[in-house]
Amino acid sequence: MRIDLVDQDQYAQSGPPLDQLRWLREHDPVHRHDDDPPFWAVTRYEDVVYVSRRSDLFSSERRLALFHEVPEEQRVFQRMMMLNQDPPEHTRRRSLVNRGFTPRTIGALEQHIRDICDDLLDKCSGEVDFVTEVAAPLPLYVICELLGAPVSDRDKLFSWSNRMIGAQDPDYADTDGGEGGAAAMELYAYANELAAQRRANPRDDIVTKLIQPDEHGQTLDENEFDLFVLLLVVAGNETTRNAASGGMLALSDHPEQWERLVADPSMARTAADEIVRWVSPVNLFRRTATQDLTLGGREIKENDKVVVFYSSANRDSSVFPDPDVFDIGRDPNPHIGFGGGGAHFCLGNHLAKLELRVLFEQLARRYPRLRRTGEARRLRSNFINGIKELPVKVN
Ligand code: HEM
Repeated sequence: MRIDLVDQDQYAQSGPPLDQLRWLREHDPVHRHDDDPPFWAVTRYEDVVYVSRRSDLFSSERRLALFHEVPEEQRVFQRMMMLNQDPPEHTRRRSLVNRGFTPRTIGALEQHIRDICDDLLDKCSGEVDFVTEVAAPLPLYVICELLGAPVSDRDKLFSWSNRMIGAQDPDYADTDGGEGGAAAMELYAYANELAAQRRANPRDDIVTKLIQPDEHGQTLDENEFDLFVLLLVVAGNETTRNAASGGMLALSDHPEQWERLVADPSMARTAADEIVRWVSPVNLFRRTATQDLTLGGREIKENDKVVVFYSSANRDSSVFPDPDVFDIGRDPNPHIGFGGGGAHFCLGNHLAKLELRVLFEQLARRYPRLRRTGEARRLRSNFINGIKELPVKVN
């Protein structure tokens, strides 16, 4: 079988190359992608979990340089972000930000999320683009709520977020890479201002919690806080928006599953996990081998690029019975759409699941006759399994 896991056009047309990934799981689970750029493709569940948990063997430092290396001067900025750090540097930051994302803190947002969903759904009438009207604004508005940003700043944050995200696919948000950098700088300055306001006037919110010292007197410095806000906006938006739109697409492709949800909207709880498994909004992440080692019987050299494919691990039949069946009642569902465990496991997983649960519960209650009216347009990206446009009719 011809293997090309990089070709962006293929992702734009039909999403991740699931047939190739299945073949690799069965025949060559740690595959040497020898074309330019060379990397190891890890496709089985068990191996993805192993790589994710062994940050001593597989460094995250260059994870955003997905296949190619990036020049050293561009690396400096990336290295400062938690996502790209390894323990012990990562451990300190992670324990400081964990305070803002406990199940209790996130659970307390449920009513706000319901209100946001209601407002967005109130505005939908007739034929609409699900991405523009629902999937994109929902996570952004939730992050504004989380940060305690005033409603009047939502549009500004929305535009920064779109410009940063759009850097990957110019067609996505009418922008280019340079714009993305400028937007990041503006957002960075905004975060700085937000923190200054909370220092002057502390409130009962996550920003205040994050800028205050923890029980050991440790705190995020200004730069760390601003970078964290930047990471939140990208990591929290791009992923959840595509889980929501990918979930809607899956439900419209499987009308019997939509009917199940309409009959019992409380199934949105298990549906949220199945959507993340099915869509795998983050297709992959890169690690770098820190030493010569063996994985799946293959000899990997120090500094080799090792790429884990969540979209593949989430269809591994050794873990998921009937992996190619979309089943909103699937339980247990040990998917690894939020990462394979270990130090970097998604900080926002409780929040994302809450957003998806509330959204799909309300959609099924309010618009039982919801249906897709045209083709979905996919994002041209081998990193994010995204949808740019999804026409639906809501009543
Ligand atoms: C990390 C997926 C939503 C914040 C990650 C990772 C994945 C992921 C795959 C990397 C895991 C690893 O390397 O082991 C997703 C998916 C989401 C989602 C599929 C939605 C369906 C969110 C939300 C937020 C968020 C809503 C925050 C508001 C983060 C952060 C990290 C992260 C901060 C880095 C954690 C670290 O480096 O320690 N996410 N995510 N994510 N995610 Fe999410």
